[in-house]
Amino acid sequence: MADYVEIFEVGPRDGLQNEPGEIDVADKIALVDCLSRAGFRRIEVASFVSPKWVPQMAGSAEVLAGITRAPGVSYAALTPNMRGFEDAMAAGADEVAIFASASEGFSKANINATIAESLERFAPVAEAAHAAGVPVRGYVSCVSECPYDGPVAPSEVVRVVTALREMGCYEISLGDTIGRATPERIDAMLAEVIKAVPAAQLAGHFHDTSGRAVENVEVALGHGLRVFDAAVGGLGGCPYAPGAAGNVATETVHDRLVALGYETGLDREVLTKAARMAQTMRGGAIA
Ligand code: HMG
Ligand code: MG
Repeated sequence: MADYVEIFEVGPRDGLQNEPGEIDVADKIALVDCLSRAGFRRIEVASFVSPKWVPQMAGSAEVLAGITRAPGVSYAALTPNMRGFEDAMAAGADEVAIFASASEGFSKANINATIAESLERFAPVAEAAHAAGVPVRGYVSCVSECPYDGPVAPSEVVRVVTALREMGCYEISLGDTIGRATPERIDAMLAEVIKAVPAAQLAGHFHDTSGRAVENVEVALGHGLRVFDAAVGGLGGCPYAPGAAGNVATETVHDRLVALGYETGLDREVLTKAARMAQTMRGGAIA
């Protein structure tokens, strides 16, 4: 039997949060409902962050309320603090994610906290989630390059990955947030991280800004990772650079995995349909 590799769909969150135009909640719900028919086990659909920081995620509770839940699919949400966690629980998220950075510059810019402060803020979220029996995923951003601090040393990634693991995150997603990582740097980073946390508890999260994301997936496969985040239609990118690449496209990762002989459990026809919907939503031009 072929080795199974899971694609964790993040388009409705990491993709849409970066789209410049206003996107109706109804369109977000339609996209999630289509994705729910594709065979994903986990879909990140919401983010309970400050709407002043990320206006596009303001309708997250309505999205969770409006989707048609497919059996066996976990609908995930980002939760930066206790308020976000409580809102996510009230809205019915199945699992939550806390998100730290391996670099100080991005931590400050993204969540207005140093790495140490952010970890302090996440600890009660993880505790409350465990008490409620809710799985917590961890993200580490800037695992190779930071837009503010430049190259990030693998030891800095290990430090934050270890802290999130100690908080009880069941999986930690390693983010090449700005899509500038080379396969060589991902290889060097993973060689160190895997000494601290086994590959079975890690995921790869590659943005495709430099067109190296698929190569980075392949490097991570070589290190034993079997979960990759991706966004259908390659949703995302910089709000100030229309057309800029976002997360690596789900369908691209899927096709590469299949070509390499892996099983993804995904329905390619449904993926194609969802990718078309996502493309229509890009730039705010919703048909
Ligand atoms: P802050 O301004 O430092 O803190 O924000 P604050 O506590 O003073 O809150 C500011 C305002 O936000 C207040 O409202 C709070 O009530 C409100 P005001 O009094 O001004 O009217 N607020 C909230 N509102 C809704 N939900 C909440 C919440 N918390 C506070 N949970 C904070 C700190 C963390 C809230 C802010 O910096 C923030 O929301 N940042 C989120 C940024 C974000 O979502 N970035 C994108 C996700 S990360 C990512 O994409 C990377 C990833 O994909 C992996 C990768 O690629 O590397 C995961
Ligand atoms: Mg991301």
